[in-house]
Amino acid sequence: MRYHRIALLPGDGIGQDVIAEGVQTLNLLASLAGDFRLETQSFDWSCEYYLQHGRMMPPEALNTLREFDAIYFGAVGFPTVPDHVSLHGMLLPIRQEFDLYVNLRPIRLLPGLEGPLRGRTTADVNFVCVRENTEGEYARSGGRIQVGTPQEVATQTAIFTRQGTERIIRYAFELARREGRHKVTSATKSNALQYSMVFWDEVYSAVAAEYPDITADKWHVDALAARFVTHPQTLDVVVSSNLFGDILTDLGGALQGSLGLPPSGNIHPVAETRRGPSLFEPVHGSAPDIAGKGIANPIGGIWSGQIMLEYLGEREAATQLMRAIEAVTAAREVLTPDLGGRATTVEVGKAIRTALRKLY
Ligand code: NAI
Ligand code: MG
Repeated sequence: MRYHRIALLPGDGIGQDVIAEGVQTLNLLASLAGDFRLETQSFDWSCEYYLQHGRMMPPEALNTLREFDAIYFGAVGFPTVPDHVSLHGMLLPIRQEFDLYVNLRPIRLLPGLEGPLRGRTTADVNFVCVRENTEGEYARSGGRIQVGTPQEVATQTAIFTRQGTERIIRYAFELARREGRHKVTSATKSNALQYSMVFWDEVYSAVAAEYPDITADKWHVDALAARFVTHPQTLDVVVSSNLFGDILTDLGGALQGSLGLPPSGNIHPVAETRRGPSLFEPVHGSAPDIAGKGIANPIGGIWSGQIMLEYLGEREAATQLMRAIEAVTAAREVLTPDLGGRATTVEVGKAIRTALRKLY
């Protein structure tokens, strides 16, 4: 029996609803598979917690989390607390402290669902975005002088280290190999950014040369954004810097048809240099407008649990869970209102669990 220790951080609003469905589904899957178990512990760190304690999580929180194999995260942020407080008080410290340098975002139009692109199906929209998550344009290097005067100057310096660039590109190629994907596409802008992106291109070519079995492709990020819309079927794995990836992944997410669907992982994939658990969360936030109504789509949350299982090495179970999610969307019978259905969060969770039981 393999045991995985999972810290549950449902957070605020619909984060609670979707993580509840996710945990039930993962536990059922573990018992069906029979060869692994999740040992979960839940923490109530959230905006609610902040209002009571004056901070999003206790001072020893990061050390507490370090003991776990993975973090299963809902969403943080609620109108009662400013967004920069909730974000900087919880999610960002976790990402930084544990050096979660890969932001992984699968982009797949699930069977049975319609995205905004006319006539496209899963066969066309099925790729993975790998975004650098710790440096680049978001390295927080820069400053402002002569603030408020006509002479004011603001700088924001992008930081590209060889180590940081190489490891994210390498991850993309390793992922392609592992998942049987055949092509990696790099988002560059080396025509205009003659230092950072020329460097990025050089590192990309060097790493690509180590993977002769994978086609290495590159596009300037503006043209690549257009191709997300016009030629999604040509994309397999996309690797990008922090800022480029931020923009591209939201565009990719939009291709999936609802913000309730896309999942994500914040990952430190290398065991030798790992400083703590990786974190898995739906792309969406706490959705205050529908919080408490029981109609949040749980698929993004459950799918994030599926990526967590892959990270934990439970690949067979992860494959089955994806099949179950796809069986539910393909049938189109039990869908939440964001997908045009009338089902509740719990009903969609149950439908996925029913589909899982049929697979075992
Ligand atoms: P949001 O993602 O919470 O909601 C945007 C829109 O999408 C809303 O209309 C919402 O009802 C809908 N939506 C989102 N998830 C859904 C789901 N699972 N099913 C059905 N509909 C869904 O983004 P918003 O409104 O900008 O942010 C709300 C709060 O969440 C803010 O405090 C924000 O800071 C926080 N947030 C947290 C994130 C995180 O924890 N990583 C990410 C994004 C936002
Ligand atoms: Mg989220």
